[in-house]
Amino acid sequence: MSWELLLWLLALCALLLLLVQLVRFVRADGDLTLLWAEWQGRRPEWELTDMVVWVTGASSGIGEELVYQLSKLGVSLVLSARRVHELERVKRRCLENGNLKEKDILVLPLDLTDTSSHEEVTKAVLQEFGRIDILVNNGGRSQRSLVVNTSLDVFKELIELNYLGTVSLTKCVLPHMIERKQGKIVVVNSISGIVSVPVSSGYCASKHALRGFFHSLRTELVDYPGITVSTICPGPVQSDIVKNAFSEEVTKTVENNFDQSYKMATSRCVRLMLISMANDLKEVWIADQPFLLMAYLWQYMPTLAWWLTNKVGKKRITNFKSGMDTDSSYSTMWKKKHD
Ligand SMILES: NC(=O)c1ccc[n+]([C@@H]2O[C@H](COP(=O)([O-])OP(=O)(O)OC[C@H]3O[C@@H](n4cnc5c(N)ncnc54)[C@H](OP(=O)(O)O)[C@@H]3O)[C@@H](O)[C@H]2O)c1
Repeated sequence: MSWELLLWLLALCALLLLLVQLVRFVRADGDLTLLWAEWQGRRPEWELTDMVVWVTGASSGIGEELVYQLSKLGVSLVLSARRVHELERVKRRCLENGNLKEKDILVLPLDLTDTSSHEEVTKAVLQEFGRIDILVNNGGRSQRSLVVNTSLDVFKELIELNYLGTVSLTKCVLPHMIERKQGKIVVVNSISGIVSVPVSSGYCASKHALRGFFHSLRTELVDYPGITVSTICPGPVQSDIVKNAFSEEVTKTVENNFDQSYKMATSRCVRLMLISMANDLKEVWIADQPFLLMAYLWQYMPTLAWWLTNKVGKKRITNFKSGMDTDSSYSTMWKKKHD
């Protein structure tokens, strides 16, 4: 075979590989490292059994689904959020459908904004189970309002809840993990921690702050390789997040049950979170297209991303002003094209 033919064959193979990767990317619902870990990495069923896992925001949405999936792995669970009756409902379902007994689940009410209570609740977990293997910082709220119409108190609340509440609880658990030289700190961030979008400025700011904080913390813990910090960045996922989102005033929420069929199923998002936890991935992006593409662009091609965000952001503002779900129309268009 001549050299020229060999080169042509190699070029063809490279092109084919590129095409395959492109098709994989168009169909991807997570970043490529995460999807590789799903295929070839450690299974949550092997890695997470027997652990003591504390989940905040366990009373609905992603946190609720997470504890259901964890309960099937034989872990001990601590369920935290403000609404005790909802936590009790979640606990009952865990006992009905999982492999756990009453003694394996602790319902521990917690308001993330009440940072003075965080030491005490941490002590309560340690008293009950003797250790904390995984802290999943999941509780949080979003925002739907334009900067110009939004009270400063809303921005303060978002920082106090999403950022400072999470930092405070982590600080209470950290000395215990350092003493044991092991533990996993998981933070449910958002694609909005990478991409900044209109109508959610305060939410984006709180999630950007979280991302910066936990990337710094990871490096501070280099002498403790047994303690890992994972930032999970989901795109739109089915939950109560929009219904509970802050609006122009602290006392005003969106309270609208928009159609969520275009969003990722909560069970899929949580499965990918478990894979990330089992493989100690430092940061994962869990999102359908076009949200995943936007994260890649913001990370690797910011100038193009800003231009595109201005185009897409206009639609988001128009949707918001006309009382629609901010993201539904363009992601439905994308889905129809690629189904
Ligand atoms: N769903 C999405 O599209 C999406 C996308 C990216 C990131 N996320 C992130 O995922 C996490 C979970 O949200 P979700 O989608 O599951 O929304 P959700 O269904 O509204 O759940 C939010 C959870 O946070 C808890 N929470 C709210 N305020 C709290 C407070 N002051 N103290 C303690 N807990 C509090 C709520 O419980 P109580 O009301 O009982 O306190 C609830 O359990 C959030 O951090 C959110 O930013 C969600």
